[in-house]
Amino acid sequence: MVLDFPISKHYYIKDGVVIADINQVKGEDETKRLEKKFGKNRVVFVKTDIADIESFENAFKVTIRHFGNIDILINNAGICNDSIWEKEIDINLKGTVNGMLLGLEKYLKQFKQGNEAVILNTSSVCLIETMSVWPVYVSTKFGILGLTKEWGNDVHYDRTKVKVVAICPGPTYTSISTDLGPGVINQEYEDILASILEELTNRIQSSDFVAKEAIKVIEQAPNGSLWIIEETKEAYQFILPSKI
Ligand SMILES: NC(=O)c1ccc[n+]([C@@H]2O[C@H](COP(=O)([O-])OP(=O)(O)OC[C@H]3O[C@@H](n4cnc5c(N)ncnc54)[C@H](O)[C@@H]3O)[C@@H](O)[C@H]2O)c1
Repeated sequence: MVLDFPISKHYYIKDGVVIADINQVKGEDETKRLEKKFGKNRVVFVKTDIADIESFENAFKVTIRHFGNIDILINNAGICNDSIWEKEIDINLKGTVNGMLLGLEKYLKQFKQGNEAVILNTSSVCLIETMSVWPVYVSTKFGILGLTKEWGNDVHYDRTKVKVVAICPGPTYTSISTDLGPGVINQEYEDILASILEELTNRIQSSDFVAKEAIKVIEQAPNGSLWIIEETKEAYQFILPSKI
């Protein structure tokens, strides 16, 4: 593949991270915070709409221009808001498909440093529990199961050397979970949410815990596997029943 921009040796940096997010203010704040900790030029923010493949591809191009390579893609951006369910499908499902196509078929396949690259998708514990509040959101997370299972088959690994795995976190303390307000189909769903909110809040986990378990998944999980992450337990595998 020929890229339509030069790779600058001058900016080549071995280890770093690119944050590709639609929220410029949050993205830039997080970039500054990480720069203070890890040093300048090791963190880059690219305003990105993952639902738009050109915008998403721009984030990959900036990554290659800045770092010269890409080894790990975390398809994590998402929303939980069934009141705008078409947009929710566009972001959660189409956005993850865009990430898979760009990552697996193009950038990780070609620009990994070592023998193997990894794509980590973010599904949800809703694969194994029923809340009945966000049916469309849950369907997008089942879609991510399908993407991980199919692209995590060794037939793709053998030709790309890109491992595909997923995490399925339980309720986690982030802006998604603290801003659940109007993100449901109608008032009756708000009532259902109200009836389970205390139970969800009681077992909310920290994003730090999820991140630490996610690193183990990236390093150790076999291709195509999905991992439930709930605080107080180590990540455990979600295994689909085999065909009888
Ligand atoms: N927080 C939870 O309880 C929980 C549980 C299970 C799974 N998840 C999943 O974890 C992932 C991360 O969510 P979070 O909990 O950290 O919430 P979050 O709101 O902190 O992070 C989601 C990020 O996605 C970004 N985003 C939204 N639309 C985008 C778009 N079109 N393009 C690019 N970026 C976009 C947002 O700006 C935000 O920074 C999501 O996929 C979510 O479904 C969250």
